[in-house]
Amino acid sequence: MKKLAVLISNYGTGTNLQAIIDATESKKINAKVVVVVSNTNEAQGLLRAGKHKIQTAISPKKEDLIKILKKYAPDYIILAGWKQIVTDQVIDEFPNKILNLHPGLIPDSPKGTVKNPDGTKALWNKGKLANIAVQNFLDQKATYAGSSVHFLTHEFDFGPVLERAFVKIIKGDSVESLYSRLKVKEHEIYVKALQALSTSTVLVIDGGGRGSALVDKYQKSPHVSKVLAAPGNDLMLINIKKPVKIFPDTETTDIKKIKKICTDYQVDFVDVAQDNAVAVGVTDALRKQDIQVFGPTKAAGQIEWDKAWARNFMKANNIPSPAFKICKSEKEGIDFLKTQKDSEWYIKASGLAAGKGVIYAKNNQRAKEAISQMKSFGKSGETFLIEECLHGEEFSSFAFVDGADFVIIGHAQDHKRAYDGDKGPNTGGMGCSSPPKAVTPKIEKQILLIFQKTTKGLAKIKRPYRGVLYLGGMIDYGGKVYVVEFNARWGDPEAQVIIPSIKNDLYEMEQQILSGNIKKIKLKKDNKYRIVVTAASKGYPNDYSNVTGRQIKGLDKVINVQIFGAGIRLSGKKYIAGGGRLFYVMAEGRNVQEARTKAYNALSKIKIERNNLHFRRDIGYRDLARL
Ligand code: AMP
Ligand code: GLY
Repeated sequence: MKKLAVLISNYGTGTNLQAIIDATESKKINAKVVVVVSNTNEAQGLLRAGKHKIQTAISPKKEDLIKILKKYAPDYIILAGWKQIVTDQVIDEFPNKILNLHPGLIPDSPKGTVKNPDGTKALWNKGKLANIAVQNFLDQKATYAGSSVHFLTHEFDFGPVLERAFVKIIKGDSVESLYSRLKVKEHEIYVKALQALSTSTVLVIDGGGRGSALVDKYQKSPHVSKVLAAPGNDLMLINIKKPVKIFPDTETTDIKKIKKICTDYQVDFVDVAQDNAVAVGVTDALRKQDIQVFGPTKAAGQIEWDKAWARNFMKANNIPSPAFKICKSEKEGIDFLKTQKDSEWYIKASGLAAGKGVIYAKNNQRAKEAISQMKSFGKSGETFLIEECLHGEEFSSFAFVDGADFVIIGHAQDHKRAYDGDKGPNTGGMGCSSPPKAVTPKIEKQILLIFQKTTKGLAKIKRPYRGVLYLGGMIDYGGKVYVVEFNARWGDPEAQVIIPSIKNDLYEMEQQILSGNIKKIKLKKDNKYRIVVTAASKGYPNDYSNVTGRQIKGLDKVINVQIFGAGIRLSGKKYIAGGGRLFYVMAEGRNVQEARTKAYNALSKIKIERNNLHFRRDIGYRDLARL
């Protein structure tokens, strides 16, 4: 976030300052006013600064200014009603950092001219102070008045121009009437110039489809000039509007390497989107380096990376969950089962296990076997849980949380099993549909309550959660919502159907969240139905090694869908399979049927040699049955 110093005087009333303050607070510009400096205590703008809790400084003598500015080390210095007391020394100290507004149309070169919108020659008004300049537009019978935002140089009323504004002069205009219209435009161009100067380089920590959906969304923000992704994937490099750089050899847990990327590429903002990264404390480490980070701290993220801790937290906060028993040894688990009547269970490694640490057991005997498998998850399985098996319909809900409050973003339904009809082994997710009809207003009320309890509960234990919180829920046959799990991130592939439905600027919303102003967010979503189908290597989630390295054909033939990459590589112009989940096909429509038709039409055109592409053909089946 850029730091601004605004220089005012008692000449004006501080309306330019106010326009800049408003734009920083509403996140229209990604900057913060760190100090307002005046040459006198009497400047009206000082009161405005005080109201917004912005520091002020008085510099009665020209010589004091440089000391004050050096102390606050602003990225940009904005002259707003400052009589020209900026000395050459200050200009030399902050080259191309001091912005000024001149009520005239400064050309790009000393001999150049600026044309008004009607083609007539615009007036430069060089050397003329504000009111005299405005008078000059009238005296010269100009058709347009105008102002320029420019960098201050040694030459008076000249320097690189950042923005220009034009105002049509109307019959009977006085200096006052013309200047009042011009001022409105001046505020706009000051904000616009600062917006362009405060764009950010954003780094997304993820390499899958979720990261791809995030990169795509950040690219659409006028606040973001460059997007980086670690590790990212090759599909991120195609069909892009702004430059993307990926770091394929960077592990999401390699804090040292991630820090180096941030330094080398002057990263302003990092989105920690991946569970392992949260768990090792990437957020905490980067914040120490004064980088803006979107994503929970390690302490808040424990709600995902430590399932035993999470269940105790849910219990303490009265959040509906299945009955559970936390076990620290195989013996403890088996002894517990002996006290229980024969039943279905879920046995879960408490730590992260790449989505493989959860085993369904249809009876106590199977549960015993599952317990003995917990060792295979190493440290993650040292503590494990035995959970009552819930029955009903699953869904995922997502909320932005700012530490104290939250906004629900949307819901989706994942299809976790590998094969149609929810058969076969659990996977990272074979497809999603959104918004699911199962989440009725009645259900959403319960979801809201759960997010409320969770946000408050985490704040109470001094682990305020800032980021996206994922509620994996189950609606039982009586219509009651239970929490299956919380995750400290977007879901994958849920992100691929929910993020595209958000109309707001993601970066702007995240800035609001980071400054604890989530209440200012007015979430806008389209009302399209989306499905995303995961295209995987045959064999996934088990052995798919004989698919890796094979060519994927037809990706460039698809229409009416969006493709998000994951385990896919580019070799020259060829697409090569490089993992389990390869890419995602996302389609939108007025309803599930329309979206499905588009997605499966596209998929019918994509092949891997020897029929090695695997995807489910029933994504969205629940809502299809409800049509
Ligand atoms: P997880 O790795 O925690 O996402 O769990 C994987 C999947 O296991 C969940 O999406 C559910 O389908 C299922 N699951 C986990 N715990 C339970 C439970 N207590 N009752 C029913 N299903 C569960
Ligand atoms: N879609 C499941 C997950 O992201 O955990």
